[in-house]
Amino acid sequence: MEVISSAQDALAKGAAAIKDTVSGAAVENQPFMKGFVRLCADGWLQGWHERNGGNLTYRMTDDEIKACKPFFNANPDEWVNMGVQADNLRGAYFVTTGSGRYMRNVQLDPAHNVGIVEINEVGDAWRIVWGLTDGGKPTSEFPSHFMNHSVRVDATDGECRVIYHAHPDNVIALTKVMPLDAREITRALWKAMTECIVVFPMGVGVVEWMVPGGADIAHATSELMKTYDAAIWAQHGLFCSGPDFDTTFGLMHTIEKAAKIHGQALMMNGCSGEFLNTIDDDGLRAIAHDFNLTINESFLD
Ligand code: 13P
Ligand code: ZN
Repeated sequence: MEVISSAQDALAKGAAAIKDTVSGAAVENQPFMKGFVRLCADGWLQGWHERNGGNLTYRMTDDEIKACKPFFNANPDEWVNMGVQADNLRGAYFVTTGSGRYMRNVQLDPAHNVGIVEINEVGDAWRIVWGLTDGGKPTSEFPSHFMNHSVRVDATDGECRVIYHAHPDNVIALTKVMPLDAREITRALWKAMTECIVVFPMGVGVVEWMVPGGADIAHATSELMKTYDAAIWAQHGLFCSGPDFDTTFGLMHTIEKAAKIHGQALMMNGCSGEFLNTIDDDGLRAIAHDFNLTINESFLD
């Protein structure tokens, strides 16, 4: 009898392992999941994700939810309240990186480092329906991601799907030496490189230093995301939003590169912001005219 029951146990364990592998592969092979994983790997290669730094969320389409649902956990965990609420995200599904999990490892084992969470019908709690194996939880910045998704969904007529938080060196360094003012920082970035105003015509918001990971910083950031599609967290990093992974990664990359050029030019110039050559405000207006851009006029002199 004992032999039979241990054989049955082994069979059940084997069946569960096969089911996990099939469900893992089925979700991991979806194009949106491949795009998610690629962005994590690219961010790591840029050097923006020391240790567990940074996080990424993606709001799934109805078709993607339908394709993945057969592979969701049969018994999802309890709902977890977020401390924030959004009507326009009731019942949404997000892919999210795990809290304390490393961007560097996402590509090696997506199901361990990334999960899918469902939002409840009140729009104030999540539960894990796939991935984040071995007791994982969504990123500690999930409240900020969630509130940013909410305001960007409204601001873009539902187009925004990606929110990306990274710790890019040069953006963080700028917040050590520049006034924490969206107009001043945006102007420096726009003038660092000609095409910046094309990539972020509304500018970049700035959140003063705050404790990360809670509802307060989530509300402060999402207030700014009503106007901007990117917001700097002083002495911490940058949040970017966009309709897809390429656009969102490109926005992060462009802002960080402009910050690097501005910082390098400052150092070459003996830390004076009076540059011999720059793009003047009429130059910025001319780009806006020729590229047919709606820009943040209040940031021009
Ligand atoms: P998580 O590991 O919880 O995503 O936190 C990383 C981070 O960058 C916090 O701001
Ligand atoms: Zn961070």
